[in-house]
Amino acid sequence: AQTGAAILARRPANTGAELRSAVPLPAAFTVPLPLPAVLKPVGADRYEITQRETVLEILPGIKTPLWTYDGTFPGPTIEARRGRPVTVTHHNRLPVPTVVHLHGGRTPPESDGYPTDLVLPDGWHDPGHGTHMHDPRAVVTRLTRDYTFPMDQRATMLWYHDHRMDFTAPAIWRGLAGLHIIRDDAEESLGLPAGSRELPLVIMDRAFDGDGGLAYPALDPSLRAHPGVHEPYLAGVLGDVILVNGAPWPVHEVDAARYRLRLLNASNARHYDLEAVTEDGRRLDLVQIGADQGLLAAPVTHQTLPIAPAERYDVVADFSGVPVGGLVKILNRLGSGRTSEVMAFRVARRGADDSRIPSVLSADLPAWNRSDAVRVRDFSFRAGQMNGGHGWLIGGLPFHPARTDVTVGLGDVEVWRLIADVHHPVHLHLAGFRVLSRGGKPPLPRDAGLKDTISLRPGESAEIITRFDGYRGRYLFHCHNAEHEDMGMMANLEIG
Ligand code: C2O
Ligand code: CU
Repeated sequence: AQTGAAILARRPANTGAELRSAVPLPAAFTVPLPLPAVLKPVGADRYEITQRETVLEILPGIKTPLWTYDGTFPGPTIEARRGRPVTVTHHNRLPVPTVVHLHGGRTPPESDGYPTDLVLPDGWHDPGHGTHMHDPRAVVTRLTRDYTFPMDQRATMLWYHDHRMDFTAPAIWRGLAGLHIIRDDAEESLGLPAGSRELPLVIMDRAFDGDGGLAYPALDPSLRAHPGVHEPYLAGVLGDVILVNGAPWPVHEVDAARYRLRLLNASNARHYDLEAVTEDGRRLDLVQIGADQGLLAAPVTHQTLPIAPAERYDVVADFSGVPVGGLVKILNRLGSGRTSEVMAFRVARRGADDSRIPSVLSADLPAWNRSDAVRVRDFSFRAGQMNGGHGWLIGGLPFHPARTDVTVGLGDVEVWRLIADVHHPVHLHLAGFRVLSRGGKPPLPRDAGLKDTISLRPGESAEIITRFDGYRGRYLFHCHNAEHEDMGMMANLEIG
């Protein structure tokens, strides 16, 4: 039998098993860009979200059933302030158990959305109970659960999404993802583009069946050994439609001014390499001001910007040099055909602009040194055997909820050396990290700042450094190719 790596080695990234939509697709840059609704609190820093099935029109004239947070796709955005704890009560009216994780949150373990801490819908019993995957530490609730987020962390754009064991990928694919933005006074005093000139952009790919529903390969784990069913799932699921904020290849009217673009790649498996190109073929700079975990120390200018699943990049694009009426396309250099286009900005009018990009953005980035580390650990991210079929393994093992893979001391600084066989975006819960090296060389410009997800390229190794503080308890690290995650590429981290 071929290993996953052997199957994937025959192809470059993103050409794995792209699902083909069976409905007519709109022309690029015709559908207006929606902005996710901001969720209204029900009390001071208290929110409620009902997870429910909804039918929405994503493609013009076509009805698509989705699993949603509160009826929207992406889910509603939570706007939080640094230092003010937020409580979100989630009600599960979906036909399946769910788990909510705030990606990038410094969250106590009981609210971190451990994959077996299920919120069961009506009529369900814990599906792990009595099986080999039974987790004695799971805290299962029925119908509803309060998640509390201390918000004791740097201002940044986080996202919340489903995290149920073995079923995260299909749940996100069907719609369970939304933004959670943390703001603070320091960031607001910088004079960055704001208001209607700050745009959250959630990028995802999807594919549509002939009846308008989202296409997705078979989920039954017993089918994993069947090559025809297994392969698309193994590589990570790719769609042929690029959505931004839930709209296909949208267009947005802008002033000829600077805009802050808060990018999230919420795709299950697709990597993008973004560029902003004018009609006369000129590339606009993408000036990066922030990473996954908030502002950089100083801006970093990119011509093209690769973004892996779950990564966020906070960038400023300046449309002031574009003539009124001109179009700026956001293209994906890793795509082909229609997946090489993402969205466009139409410069609609001139506009006064008093925004700025200060040369010093923040002074509070942690500066951990190699010499601070009490331990160095190695983790491989590779294909392998799991339950008699293909899986994805960390350190040679597939995920098991009842096994502790790593125990770290509260407050300890550690260096982790990660090595990958194919593309793996590796995400660590709770602890933001810095990238120390890649392939034995200094980090890339895009590794700047505080990260929570690092994109490992095929055959690449990298070193990250972090301090495990805040809370004791059980956390995770995993690949954020959501299908890899569901196929075992996740491990337990105990902070004790
Ligand atoms: Cu974005 Cu463990 O999650
Ligand atoms: Cu992976």
